Amino acid sequence: MQLTDTWYAVELSSNLKQKPISIELFESKICLWRDQKGFPHAIVDRCPHKGAALSKGKVLGDQLQCPYHGWIYDKQGKCVTIPAALPEQAIPKKACVQTFDCKEQRGLIFLWWGNSEPEPLPDLNLVPNSDDSTWRVLEGEAIWEAHWIRALEGFTDLTHVPFVHSGSFGNSSDARVLPTKKSITPYCLSQTILTPRDREYRKTQRWSINQLLPFNKKKKNQPEEVAAVEANEVSESEGAQYVELWLPNIVFIRVVFSDFQIYLLLVSVPISGQRTRNIWKHFRSFLKTPLADNNARNRVIKFLQEDQHIIESIEPHCPSLEQPKDLLHDTDVVTIELRKLLRKKGKNGFLQEYDATLSKNT
Ligand code: FES
Ligand SMILES: [Fe+2]
Repeated sequence: MQLTDTWYAVELSSNLKQKPISIELFESKICLWRDQKGFPHAIVDRCPHKGAALSKGKVLGDQLQCPYHGWIYDKQGKCVTIPAALPEQAIPKKACVQTFDCKEQRGLIFLWWGNSEPEPLPDLNLVPNSDDSTWRVLEGEAIWEAHWIRALEGFTDLTHVPFVHSGSFGNSSDARVLPTKKSITPYCLSQTILTPRDREYRKTQRWSINQLLPFNKKKKNQPEEVAAVEANEVSESEGAQYVELWLPNIVFIRVVFSDFQIYLLLVSVPISGQRTRNIWKHFRSFLKTPLADNNARNRVIKFLQEDQHIIESIEPHCPSLEQPKDLLHDTDVVTIELRKLLRKKGKNGFLQEYDATLSKNT
């Protein structure tokens, strides 16, 4: 299953520097590169001459040179130079490579996957900019042998937390979620929830990070603070989780308390129908010292590993929309809405079987 005519986030901006790189989307190898002004471009990662990977080539100003025989392509993918050719030897008309519209926003590279004219890229205005000093930012990725829709559903599934994440931040003593709001647009599903376990997470996160820092040791064993946190009523002003799913492949989770905020941006890039590359960015508004990075990074890695072994076990691998085998319940708020949206996209012709190929004339 692939959603077409939409902007896929495919790479972290920080991974695309001067040198071209190769990424994979639905088994298509795509070369990303930056021109001399720093704008990103996307082109099929295969030179039509003898098939070398353009991502192993180099950027010459606003053009890309194949590493094998030096053919040079412009930003539209048209071959403009064949170094070995004599002046009377013309460049073949077929010497061009498919390109994709490419944009950059909030530290992510996006490409338009489809045959129609690209729509404006939705503004992810809640995601902090990379240079925003309010935040300490960490980045990473994890490859899962799982379908990307299952990954998205997992990241927006709030009722699994006390069970799958009981070893990290989930508290299995209270599995209730208290939904407060949901909102649905053609691109974005969001849910705000209050959970009693948020308070537990805040308590443990703050404590364990504080213990890393010698000048914070005095925070250890403060029963009054624990009692105060546990006695609090659950209310949005006290803290809440905000979960947003931006179609086709971004999940943005915000855990917000007044003085304590953690954001997790998850991008599930469909490498194939069986494999997903989960790119992540973690933002924290507190303890911005690099000394706390290892602790925060290990928490994200553990959280993803806890999900991975469950999500990889799911059958069927790809959820069936027309004859669902999953027995969804009212508590599966975002999953239910996501599948409704996908069905609607299918009716409008924007959901294709996985092996359908995109064709585009360049
Ligand atoms: S394979 Fe690219 S120039 Fe020959
Ligand atoms: Fe999870």
